[in-house]
Parts: sequence; C-alpha cells; structure tokens
Amino acid sequence: MTRLDRVEQTSARFTGPPLTPRTAVIWSVLRAELERRAGDRLTVLDVGGGTGGFAVPLAQAGHRVTVVDASPDALAALTRRAAESGVADRVRAVQGDGDALAGLVEPASVDLVLCHSVLEVVDDPAPVVAALVTALRPGGAASVLVAGQAAAVLGRAMNGHLDVAAALAADPAGTAGPRDTLRRRYDADRAAALLASAGLTVEEIHGVRVLADLLPAAVADGQQAAVVELERALAARPPYRDLAAQLHLFARRPA
Ligand SMILES: C[S@@+](CC[C@H](N)C(=O)[O-])C[C@H]1O[C@@H](n2cnc3c(N)ncnc32)[C@H](O)[C@@H]1O
Repeated sequence: MTRLDRVEQTSARFTGPPLTPRTAVIWSVLRAELERRAGDRLTVLDVGGGTGGFAVPLAQAGHRVTVVDASPDALAALTRRAAESGVADRVRAVQGDGDALAGLVEPASVDLVLCHSVLEVVDDPAPVVAALVTALRPGGAASVLVAGQAAAVLGRAMNGHLDVAAALAADPAGTAGPRDTLRRRYDADRAAALLASAGLTVEEIHGVRVLADLLPAAVADGQQAAVVELERALAARPPYRDLAAQLHLFARRPA
C-alpha cells in the first residue's frame, strides 16, 4: 500500500447504510475491519455481489470494489445503482463465475473479499473458497455469509411441514431434497471447516437473522430499531447464533 493509495476518509467515520435486521451484524463486523484499516483505500472483491447492496456503500466510503456475478441483470442493476450513488468510477462489474475467479482477478490483489449467499447455490463451494483465498493478499480478510441449516429445519416445522423438516435435519448437506432451492446449508462448524480447509483463519462467527424471520410482521416492522439491537446482542452467543437463518464468518488469509 503506497501513500498515494491512502484515502482521506478517516475524519468521517464509516457508518454504512441504514441498518436492518438482515445487514446490521454484517456491517458491524465489516466496520471494525474498515476502522482497523482506516485511511487505506481498500481493494474489495464482492463475489456474487448481485445488485450492490454492499458494494455501493463500500465504494461510497472510498474503496474500489469489483463485483463478479453470474447474472447480467444483477450487474446492470448494480451499474445503475453505482451511477445514481455517484460512485461509478469506483465500482467495476464483471460477469463471471465464482470458481473461475483466477482468470478475472489478479492473485493476491484484494484486501477484503465478500461472498454473501453464494456458497449455498454454486455447484461446488470448495473451489469458490479456494479462489477467494487466491484473490486475497496475505493478511486480507474474507466476509462469508451462508444459509443456516438449523433455522431452516425449525422454519419448515413451524409451518407444519414436518416431513420436510425431518429430511432437512437428516441431510448432511442441509437440503430438503431435489426440490430445495438451495444446494446446501451449514452449521457453524461445517462452515468454519470449509474456510479453514482453504487456508483461512476464521476470526469471528455470528448469526444473522436470529429472530427477524420469527417475529410477527407488526413487531418486525414496527420496532425495527429494537429488533436490530437485539439481533446484535444475540449474534455471537450460542445457542442463539446457531439458530440464525444465516451464519456470517469473518476470516483472514494468514499474513
Ligand atoms: C442470493 S444472491 C446474493 C447477492 C448478494 N451477495 C447479497 O448478499 O445481497 C446470489 C448472487 O450470486 C450470484 N451467483 C450465483 N451463482 C454464482 C456463481 N457461480 N458465480 C458468481 N455469482 C453467482 C447470483 O447471480 C446472485 O446475484
């Protein structure tokens, strides 16, 4: 990192977008990393970044973000959003597959990689995680969000689909069979093992949406600030963490 790469963003502490129960915990973790690197213009890679819900706020904070996504429609929406937010020059949209990152991103060039809600839909998560690690500089960080198996079991059961809940609970991959929209779900140990086997050091695991999907709409909509506060209070604490709809892992490529 040269002095020219440093960006004058330190005086305005990064606050990110308005926090929701879906994003508050993730932004809390990311904000800590951004503050640790305060003053640096980071190179960020968002694999499966979709329409830029994370990419655009990160670009607004001064960082350079490349979004690699398989969907041209998502990338078109991302490009529009980046332009409307005045950060088109800091957001690069690349159509491509997560496990072909090697040809799309220079190895060891990325400070922070995001891979949110992608590992549960790709054919094989291992090469995607390996590609994330290859893209990261030594010491760079990875933010990975995956679907939680336990919450899916409870959700099916609470909706009266007991046979589906039983199938999901029994399946080592955490799916409810061939009609499931996801190819796999995780518990904290399996998700951590996936990242560790690719050479990442897992530093933090949080639950995302511990409560949000369980609340009556009147509570979720009417008391959003209180829900966000409670989500943040429970996110790191088993057993609440392990019942969350999603698991967020923050990991680092050893320096
Ligand atoms: C559920 S969306 C998540 C979007 C965003 N990461 C978020 O958390 O809001 C999954 C995204 O992954 C993309 N995707 C799915 N398979 C992919 C692959 N093999 N390589 C790259 N992107 C992929 C989809 O096009 C979609 O934009």
